[in-house]
Amino acid sequence: MLNFPKPFSQPQPHPREFAVPESVSQAHHPHTSEILELFRLRGDSQYGSEPVSQREHALQAAWFAEQQGVDPNLVAAALLHDVGHLLHDLPDDAPEQGIDDHHENLAARWLQRRFPAEVCAPVQLHVAAKRYLCAVEPGYFHQLSPASVCSLRLQGGPMSELERVAFERLPGAAAAVRLRRWDDAAKITGLQTPPLEHFARQLDACLASGPPAGHDLGENT
Ligand SMILES: [Fe+2]
Repeated sequence: MLNFPKPFSQPQPHPREFAVPESVSQAHHPHTSEILELFRLRGDSQYGSEPVSQREHALQAAWFAEQQGVDPNLVAAALLHDVGHLLHDLPDDAPEQGIDDHHENLAARWLQRRFPAEVCAPVQLHVAAKRYLCAVEPGYFHQLSPASVCSLRLQGGPMSELERVAFERLPGAAAAVRLRRWDDAAKITGLQTPPLEHFARQLDACLASGPPAGHDLGENT
């Protein structure tokens, strides 16, 4: 169970569900088809105040992960780490309005019914990983984008020593830190990446064994 204190407690939105048109659902695992449909419907939305869309951000993060030869589950996590932003109706600039959308928990709740823990845990912890890196890595904070600094305030700021120790013990923490670095880098206007269809095949592979029985993630930062 992951429970770090937050400076602001706000009601957390519930993930939306999407009906997948028959034409989309033929070639892939049903959950992959859901994700393709989600990006078709909402992937053009802006990634906060960053100069890329949600689709571009996801593809760049997944592309960076794949180029490092990591496990396909971690490539999937990189692709899906911000899927929570696509599952609520809050404005793109919610952090600038002082709203924490808790997208990491929203994503984890949605993903845990579909993907193995190796995908879900780094996604859920990618916000905590930013707070962690701010606490342990000199200079990390100063390379964050203005939008990321803005959301960091809402997310609790750099971790305390107690939080740092607790974070390092969590399954998926190291993977979340790796993911965080791809997340931070995936904001490059016009960067060419493979298309979603490329990563859809990897999602199919991750989904082949299905989510483990009783898979349940606690809420966290
Ligand atoms: Fe992100």
